[in-house]
Amino acid sequence: MQIVSTVKEVRTQVKEWRKQGLSIGFVPTMGYLHEGHASLMKRAKEECDKVVASIFVNPMQFGVNEDLDSYPRDLDADAKLCDSIGVDLIFHPEVEEMYAEGFCSFVDMNGLTKELCGKSRPIHFRGVCTVVNKLFNIVTPDKAFFGQKDAQQLAVIKRMVKDLNMDIEVIGCPIIREEDGLAKSSRNTYLNEEERKAALILSQTIRLGEQLVKDGVTNVAELVAAMKENISKEPLAKIDYVEAVSMDTIEKIEKMQGTVLVAMAVYIGKTRLIDNFIVEV
Ligand code: PAF
Repeated sequence: MQIVSTVKEVRTQVKEWRKQGLSIGFVPTMGYLHEGHASLMKRAKEECDKVVASIFVNPMQFGVNEDLDSYPRDLDADAKLCDSIGVDLIFHPEVEEMYAEGFCSFVDMNGLTKELCGKSRPIHFRGVCTVVNKLFNIVTPDKAFFGQKDAQQLAVIKRMVKDLNMDIEVIGCPIIREEDGLAKSSRNTYLNEEERKAALILSQTIRLGEQLVKDGVTNVAELVAAMKENISKEPLAKIDYVEAVSMDTIEKIEKMQGTVLVAMAVYIGKTRLIDNFIVEV
């Protein structure tokens, strides 16, 4: 497995693989990899001849008061995990390699980013779209793999690829959870023991929401109110949002109909965690 830090090195290797007629799968990450990332890499390995993973904590997608500086990093552990899965190349650029002096071009989106995380993190998706666009241009993958835990991000990337005619298949992969239900996330590492227990309120509330929909609740206000009430039982939890939106447009809906994304962001202490379920009604 190679670890490279320049765009030129990635391009040289990708050109070589292309000459040999090999397909390329791509898993973009911000590192501090866990089993969620591993599942994306394994899927890429199954579906493509060569697998590239990027590890880059992208400053452009963090707001001023967010956790850019404290975001966990561990390149050695990440490299070991990638190697054990059979990743062929890690692209680990410095910020200057991605954003040279004078950088002033962005990819932005008018739709899909007004609700959910887009509402509480206003510049986030501009940063995500810009960096993913750049990474796609550098790696030129056939397929790119993203987790459903960031369901809005997945919808945004799919839309960007469609709108900008990128010749890349975007594949969404299921949420991977700890045994007790907590969705795997690099940010789980911020939680102390008490907060780790409290964080279970997210997955418990997801299960409650799923059950209510199964039981026939179709009124979104009723569903959201029940989920919020459940979260409010946990003293360490502070709700950022609980919403149900159409999966395609990420716009609010009043009735559970079609493919619906029910998503939440909840602070446990200072740590903002997200979780969701997607349901066909
Ligand atoms: O999901 C992430 O880790 C990031 O948002 C991504 C897609 C790697 C872009 O920085």
